[in-house]
Amino acid sequence: MSSYVVIDTVTKSYGDRKVLSGVSLEIQAGERVALMGPSGSGKSTLLNCLGGVDRFDAGNLVIGGIALGTASEAELTRLRRREIATVFQFFHLLPTLSVVENAIFPLLLNGVPEREALAKGREWMERVGLTHRMQATPDQLSGGEMQRCAIARALTAGPKLLLADEPTGNLDSATGEKILDLLEELTREQGITLVMVTHSEAATRICERTVHLLDGRVVEPVTA
Ligand SMILES: Nc1ncnc2c1ncn2[C@@H]1O[C@H](COP(=O)(O)OP(=O)(O)OP(=O)(O)O)[C@@H](O)[C@H]1O
Ligand SMILES: [Mg+2]
Repeated sequence: MSSYVVIDTVTKSYGDRKVLSGVSLEIQAGERVALMGPSGSGKSTLLNCLGGVDRFDAGNLVIGGIALGTASEAELTRLRRREIATVFQFFHLLPTLSVVENAIFPLLLNGVPEREALAKGREWMERVGLTHRMQATPDQLSGGEMQRCAIARALTAGPKLLLADEPTGNLDSATGEKILDLLEELTREQGITLVMVTHSEAATRICERTVHLLDGRVVEPVTA
C-alpha cells in the first residue's frame, strides 16, 4: 500500500539560508506522527509546505496521490479547503465572529448553506465540549477553550490530514493534556492523519511515531 503522505528529498531556502535540506518521510493514512527538533530546525516550514501554503524549492511532496509541486492552483485550493486542516499555537481565531461562527467558517467557504453549516457546527461544539460557550467571542474564552474552538473549526469540513503546530505550546500542562486527549480521540475516531509539531516529549504520547528534525534534515534521535 502506498503512503498517504510522501515527502521525498524536499528542500527549501530563504535567500541563501537552507531551511529544509532534503527531508524524506512517509506517513501512512490514519497515522499520528510527532515532529520534534530544536527551534529553527524547520518544523513549521515543513508543516507549511505540507499544508500547501508554502512552496518548496526541490524534491517531491505528495498528499493523497496529489503532487503538491506540480498541482494546479485549483487542486491546491481543493486540498487546502477539503483535505488538510491546521491548528496553531496561537489559535488564529477570527476575533469578531462567535465561537460557533468560527467553527463553521470553512463550511461556509466551501459553499455549505448556513442552516446546514450551523447544524453541523452545533454538533462539533458538543464534540469539543463548547456548547455552553457557543455564542461567546474568542476574547471571552480561556486558552483551552480557544484551542477547542480551533480544533472544531479544523475538523468541521472533514479533513483527512490535520497539521498541528505546537497545539499545546500556549497552554498550561493540565489544559494541554486535555487538548492532547481530544486530538487523539477525534483523529483516531475519524481516521485522520495527524502531524503534530511539539517541543514536549510528553505530548508525543498521542502519536505512534516521533520524527526528529535537525538543521532541516530528519535525524535519528541521540541516545545516551
Ligand atoms: N518567511 C521567512 N523568511 C526568512 N526566514 C524564515 C522564514 N520563515 C522561517 N525562516 C527561517 O527558517 C528557519 C526555520 O524556521 P521554522 O519556523 O521552520 O523553525 P521551527 O523548527 O518551526 O522553529 P520553532 O521551534 O522556533 O518554531 C529559521 O531559521 C527561520 O528564521
Ligand atoms: Mg515553529
